[in-house]
Amino acid sequence: MKKYNVFDCSMVELDRHHSDRKGNLSVVENGETLPFDVKRVYYLYDIPGGESRGAHAHKELSQLIIAASGSFKVTLDDGKMKRTFFLNRPYQGLYVKPGMWRDLDDFSSGAVCMVLASDVYLASDYIRDYNEFLRFRKNLQ
Ligand code: TYD
Repeated sequence: MKKYNVFDCSMVELDRHHSDRKGNLSVVENGETLPFDVKRVYYLYDIPGGESRGAHAHKELSQLIIAASGSFKVTLDDGKMKRTFFLNRPYQGLYVKPGMWRDLDDFSSGAVCMVLASDVYLASDYIRDYNEFLRFRKNLQ
């Protein structure tokens, strides 16, 4: 796995179909929107005020994180640098490359955090210990 840093992760503008009378629609389509195909979608919701989520890294997984409703902050950490993104638009997504520690916090009331992932759920892809994450980063080429 390539050693990405936080500056390899960025906001992606999604296709937006606007209708004055009937609202908006945004699209993520395999082969069009992202450099990976989406194998799994999950979403976080009913997050109590003051709670944080994440606190892990993925070894191989790529993700697109979207504030489908409301807002929250995502802090990415590559072991050396950190970058915080404020997500509050359903037509934007944060493209998270593999090997990033992530913390999600400051969820607004009613926030929905939708995650499009490049693979199915694999517990073995998770790193949940920060020191283990730092060791993992050191061993990446
Ligand atoms: P977890 O990754 O711990 O969420 P967070 O780190 O944001 O708090 O996931 C919470 C629970 O959901 C955990 O028991 C694993 C389960 N889960 C799945 O079964 N499939 C999935 O795709 C995901 C993301 C989680």
